[in-house]
Amino acid sequence: MFISFEGIDGVGKSTQIRLAEEYLRSKGKDVICTLEPGGTELGQEIRNLLLHRKGDVAPRAEALLYAADRAHHVATKVRPALAEGKVVITDRFLDSSVAYQGAGRKLSANEVRNISLWAVDGLLPDLTVLVDLDPAIAAERRKSTGEAPDRLEQEKLDFFQAVRDEFLKLAQAEPGRFLVVDATESPAEIFVHIAKKLDELLG
Ligand code: TYD
Repeated sequence: MFISFEGIDGVGKSTQIRLAEEYLRSKGKDVICTLEPGGTELGQEIRNLLLHRKGDVAPRAEALLYAADRAHHVATKVRPALAEGKVVITDRFLDSSVAYQGAGRKLSANEVRNISLWAVDGLLPDLTVLVDLDPAIAAERRKSTGEAPDRLEQEKLDFFQAVRDEFLKLAQAEPGRFLVVDATESPAEIFVHIAKKLDELLG
């Protein structure tokens, strides 16, 4: 089983990922949690280029770097784990590229999706949990952590608005794959919806 978590920065994805990991382990599943960008050693270097290097990155170069990270991640970590029967939970996957690079950077959503689909040789998650939140609230939450914003997090509200809208559009287009949860609910309330969906998938 392959599960991705998506959403704009600051919505509380990591908490839900931890809860999902614990829940699936309690059901006897062998679970690995991973992330994009940076789920592999090579990916860590790409992540550093994308988020912490000084200076601009051209939008198409940015899209290709995320796709390169994803290609290596899927080939060397995700597919092997799935082949061993593990449940793989990834913090972000190709929908992030469609939303951030496609909508946020105003590249074509379709082209970005096709590049990513090529990069992963067609692998799509069985479930994608979209943790949805108003960008203004997410920005407040990010500020309250006191952490310095990375290159993407320095973007303005209208960038995150476009990203959020695209995520919601993607969820609407593929209701079978997506579960949308409302990040204004408490972490425990949110997880109730996710656990229900996981139970359905586990059968
Ligand atoms: P993330 O690891 O969620 O950030 P953090 O560690 O700060 O919680 O994601 C890193 C950033 O990369 C985030 O701003 C979203 C962005 N991103 C894209 O723009 N495109 C992508 O394809 C992916 C996977 C992430």
